[in-house]
Amino acid sequence: MAQDTTKAELDRVKNVILQAKEKACRETDNEPEPELTSRVEWPVQCTVGPGLEGAIAAETKIGYVNGTKGSLIYRGYDIFDLCAHSTFEETSYLLLHGRLPSSSELASFSAMLRRKMLIPRTQRLLLSFPVEEMLPMAALRLGTNLMRQKQTFRDKDTFLAETADSIAADEDSIPMETPPTGGKKSVFEFIKHIFTKPETAPAHLISSEEIESCYNLLGGVVSVAAAIGRVRQGHIPLEPLPDLSLAGNYLYMLTGRRPTPLQERIMDVCFILHADHGMNASTFASMVVASTLSDIYFAIGSGIAALSGPLHGGANVEVVQTLEEIGEAKSVKAWYQKAKADKRKVPGFGHRVYKAYDPRARVLGPLAEMLAEEDPAIKPLFETAKELERTVVAELGESKRIFPNVDFYSGIVYKSMGIDEHLYTTIFAVSRVAGWCARVMEYLEQNRIFRPRAIYTGTLHEEYVPLDQRDPTGT
Ligand SMILES: CC(C)(COP(=O)(O)OP(=O)(O)OC[C@H]1O[C@@H](n2cnc3c(N)ncnc32)[C@H](O)[C@@H]1OP(=O)(O)O)[C@@H](O)C(=O)NCCC(=O)NCCS
Repeated sequence: MAQDTTKAELDRVKNVILQAKEKACRETDNEPEPELTSRVEWPVQCTVGPGLEGAIAAETKIGYVNGTKGSLIYRGYDIFDLCAHSTFEETSYLLLHGRLPSSSELASFSAMLRRKMLIPRTQRLLLSFPVEEMLPMAALRLGTNLMRQKQTFRDKDTFLAETADSIAADEDSIPMETPPTGGKKSVFEFIKHIFTKPETAPAHLISSEEIESCYNLLGGVVSVAAAIGRVRQGHIPLEPLPDLSLAGNYLYMLTGRRPTPLQERIMDVCFILHADHGMNASTFASMVVASTLSDIYFAIGSGIAALSGPLHGGANVEVVQTLEEIGEAKSVKAWYQKAKADKRKVPGFGHRVYKAYDPRARVLGPLAEMLAEEDPAIKPLFETAKELERTVVAELGESKRIFPNVDFYSGIVYKSMGIDEHLYTTIFAVSRVAGWCARVMEYLEQNRIFRPRAIYTGTLHEEYVPLDQRDPTGT
């Protein structure tokens, strides 16, 4: 009987996602943008805005965001299909290896990732820091450094590579003053000797730039993120359960309760939805760090740092706070009129790339609704959200192409699972490790250190005035 209920619930998740897909197909024609989906002849001509907006910095086969049509693709597969039919483990395999796995490949990949979640040595080290006093994203970043320390030989002085093995190459030894010619120049400029494992290094330590690091991070970051939440509640970290997925284990290790199959599946869908999203700021940050041939742990740590900023991760916290501030659905219109008069942006709406309905919000909305139906504490919040969506889209949908984004419903989903709002951005990071790793590994195959230029607008030819001759007031 219980099994029948579970199957019915899981089928319902799949159906609401497929219905969301149908709706998206009806509302958009999903034609790719030729200028963003065809091979590039380097050097490429493009119009670049401040912050590199519009710049083409790399080619990729990993994922594509069609902002005009509102579609998201990983390795050619539509996000709706992946959410309906795939798992986070399978999606991670797809992102990292470029194709869907066979059933035996998936079984061994999933089992391997589950083993990678077991990181007691790292967790013990983590507990020696005041994790409960740190911002969760800061603690997560620390966790990746500690994983690096425990899992690789890179930090062990005795195993440091001979300096003669690496090319002496500070950034200015690269001929950046010449125009970027691309093509043949976009290949390795550095020798990879520095990553060769010394014979004296213990067997369990790996190099920090190989694919094994990605697997370590995919599993390990789940455990670190859950441990951070656990420690913040005054509990000690838990070990993963071998029969739960990464998403299920995240919930178990965080709450100490075995998630229901429905909760596990919905968290799994959230992980899939956040796994990759073009060359956004955190992905770019990871790629920039990796492009110096630093290593993958540092690259992922940089992604976490970039994601921690309020312009990137974390708008879902503001969404939940805003919905709570609004209160009942009937208060939405008055609240919105005031927000509009105050020129206040509504959290969870609008997107730098999407000028259509964000497909991730199309999936998360109905899932939040499913959870709200079962949870009287969440229902009013969801109803207020629905009313806010109607109001904002009616007002700004056509005129400014403002629609709900991924953050609009994700906070409601996490809240219904009892997750503290301070942890929401860490969930984003846990899933995005897959995309960060895939893009870093892809970029390293044809690595070229990132090095844009800035236009110098300062003064020239200043004459140096000795300290004792300068105006003492400093003016
Ligand atoms: C995400 C975001 C930064 C994208 O910004 P952007 O593409 O640079 O868009 P702009 O900020 O230039 O906004 C374009 C117009 O839409 C309006 N707009 C954008 N987002 C809006 C929002 N959330 N609520 C109300 N109006 C919004 C702007 O006021 C601007 O109007 P104007 O042309 O009259 O000045 C922006 O939409 C935002 O701040 N959203 C809220 C925060 C959020 O949800 N972030 C998570 C993103 S995943």
